[in-house]
Amino acid sequence: VSRIKENNLFHHVVYHSLVTSTQVIAHQLVNEGAREGTIVVADEQTAGKGRLGRTWDSQHETGIWMSLILKPLVDFRQAPQLTLVAAVALARALQNKSGQQIDIKWPNDLLVNGKKICGILTELQADPDRIKSVIIGIGVNVNHEHFPQEITDIATSLKKESGKNFDRAELITDILDEFSWLYEAYLTNGFSLIKPLWEAHSLSIGKKVIARRAKDSLVGIALGINENGVLLLQDETGHVHEIYSADIEIS
Ligand code: BTN
Repeated sequence: VSRIKENNLFHHVVYHSLVTSTQVIAHQLVNEGAREGTIVVADEQTAGKGRLGRTWDSQHETGIWMSLILKPLVDFRQAPQLTLVAAVALARALQNKSGQQIDIKWPNDLLVNGKKICGILTELQADPDRIKSVIIGIGVNVNHEHFPQEITDIATSLKKESGKNFDRAELITDILDEFSWLYEAYLTNGFSLIKPLWEAHSLSIGKKVIARRAKDSLVGIALGINENGVLLLQDETGHVHEIYSADIEIS
């Protein structure tokens, strides 16, 4: 952990060998008054959390399992943008390091050759009127040679794609460097700088997709994202829907 270089924003690294979930630890730290820029890193999670109540396979020392604590002064409507800022930072850092093309599937899946290499889980702590803190959970599959049977067809790792092992501490530093400047740029200039960077990695734009939401599913063409990071989906009647949360399948 001493090899994880701290930078201006991420000045405080909380390292654990084994945890249930770095998200759980991060929530506790926020309750205890943790400052913006605290990060929680673990070698292994026994109960890694994915989106939509799923579990996240977090084997010992194979991947990057970490949670970033942020306290941006942004409105609720802008919270989805932070996931996209993280996705851009991760896509750029992982692509630079590995030479692999990293694609982003809205909102938060990073794929290599159509298989998932990284997931982002954004959780908010909020009062009725304002966001108190944003906890961005990041899981990157780095040196896995195998995955559990049930995800072996849909998951991949940097090692599986490139044949090489990667230094996790070095990768964490790269991700934090990339995230820091993008986050500062986002806070200063808004989402307009992030949007084209996101689009450069986007797999969904212009494609026919199925958006599975909690209560219904929509089929249409993904037109892109708007200034809030919301996905715009045009159905066959031409109507454009704003999708705030869904699972996207590209058909
Ligand atoms: C997803 O794609 O469903 C999101 C996966 C997020 C996994 C990371 S690993 C570090 C952090 N701690 C957790 O329990 N989950 C996130």
